[in-house]
Amino acid sequence: MGVLVSGRGSNLQALLDACVGDFPARVACVISNVPGAHALVRAGLAGVPAVVLPHSGRDRATYDAELRAALANHGVLPGSGIVCLAGFMRVLGPAFLEGWPVINVHPALLPAFPGLHGPRQALAGGVTQAGATVHLVDGGVDTGPILGQATVPVLPDDTEETLSARILPFEHRLFVQGLRQVAEGRVVVEGHRARIDLRPGESRWLGAP
Ligand code: GAR
Repeated sequence: MGVLVSGRGSNLQALLDACVGDFPARVACVISNVPGAHALVRAGLAGVPAVVLPHSGRDRATYDAELRAALANHGVLPGSGIVCLAGFMRVLGPAFLEGWPVINVHPALLPAFPGLHGPRQALAGGVTQAGATVHLVDGGVDTGPILGQATVPVLPDDTEETLSARILPFEHRLFVQGLRQVAEGRVVVEGHRARIDLRPGESRWLGAP
């Protein structure tokens, strides 16, 4: 699989840490649209090829084609490859999405609070439950069939930072689980719903203790 990133890379790290032993996927390359993203350092430390592909000055179709070519250069190909968006802050067009599953993680209980700053939006919205979602990407902004979700409480004194920190470990767990399910061919999409052949001990919903 290829992992696309834009920032700190904690979700990338969760995937790198998971991809050992009999885990059914390996990270073939990490591509960042942001030069200097810390995720690139994590890729280097893990011995995974890291590519910087800035999007500035390109239209969407051109950039998406460059991304596909970079993934192909590392053996991530339609038909067998998987693409993970681990904090990749750019919308991908339909031509990019064709031919392989694309998995995204988002720090909110979708379909609420898509786009930027999910936890900030949750606080502003006054909700009592926030959370994380892992889903297949369908061309919208944080839309597409949901693989798994986690809820965490919003506490009275929460800031964006404290709420984000409460959500983040659930993102990591959900992302690894969703990737495993996709890689093992246990996900079937029917309309907007993902049906998953769950293994013992798996749940599509995770809640805070
Ligand atoms: C994560 O919280 C991820 O869910 C979010 O960016 C952060 C990246 O952190 N993605 C989105 O908001 C996508 N709309 P990370 O670089 O440490 O994985």
